[in-house]
Amino acid sequence: MCVCAHVCLHMPVCVCVHVCLHMPVCVCVHVCPPHSSMAKGKGKGKKAAEPKGRKVTLKMARAALKVTVDGKRRLDLSNMGIAAFPRCILALSDVDELDLSRNLLRKLPDSISSFASLRWLDLHSNQLESLPPTIARLQKLHTLNLSNNRLTAAGLPPELGLLADLRRLNLGLNRLDSAPHFLCALRELRELALFGNLLSREPAHLRHLPKLLRLNMADNPLPPPSPPLDTVWRAPDLLLVRHSCLCDACHQRCHHMQERIHSRASAPRSHHSKAALTTATLSVPNAVPPHDQEAWR
Ligand SMILES: *[C@@H]1O[C@H](CO)[C@@H](O)[C@H](O)[C@H]1NC(C)=O
Repeated sequence: MCVCAHVCLHMPVCVCVHVCLHMPVCVCVHVCPPHSSMAKGKGKGKKAAEPKGRKVTLKMARAALKVTVDGKRRLDLSNMGIAAFPRCILALSDVDELDLSRNLLRKLPDSISSFASLRWLDLHSNQLESLPPTIARLQKLHTLNLSNNRLTAAGLPPELGLLADLRRLNLGLNRLDSAPHFLCALRELRELALFGNLLSREPAHLRHLPKLLRLNMADNPLPPPSPPLDTVWRAPDLLLVRHSCLCDACHQRCHHMQERIHSRASAPRSHHSKAALTTATLSVPNAVPPHDQEAWR
């Protein structure tokens, strides 16, 4: 018996390709359904707004189910010309991994939250401009790849910060003009990619992510690094006092300190210690020659 899975490409007119699972024995000829039967939107855009992608049937999706080397169930729908999220795959929502990368997706439905077992979601190289807040219900998510889309900072829902177990987040090659603050809430994050965006400011708040090991911010219009502020040594308890208030012993200690500061400042700069000093603006109270000592008593 011949079982057929049907693929309809509505581009630019309706062209139908019938994929027969019993090839080459069975050859099918199919009459294409009217174009409008694909349109489901809420009445706004007409033909022009319709996704011209490939339709995935449940049968095709079942055939795309794989088991990874570490025993996870992965639904691999990568690179299939999919322009609209195939709702039929909700029937397979118990998978551990979902690969929808390299397609033409412009948005995800709220129902993405049905994939509650997902640990790994790959959406890289699509046309996503935003994400639904319901994505935060994927509480088991470890890895989320959103790279090479059209995401803006405004298109990322703050609810993403609720993905409590997220380890790897790739937001590279998007249109982010700032690193959203919710990223700070992702306390388990190990790797964060923000390369190839429109960041014009160093996202200082990301430094507080406790487990972050890798942060890729290459290819952003960031200003050139400012003078290395963190190599300036700051005396932990520097006090400015009048000479006349110092006793003899204090004066000597100050003098000693100043000598140490000068000797460190003239030593060759080391990248490994914070010993490089700038003394030009430091003013210490022991800059008075010792012949005045009597006057301090
Ligand atoms: C995500 O997608 C990019 C392609 O844009 C790929 O290079 C990378 O390996 C993927 N995985 C992760 C975890 O970022």
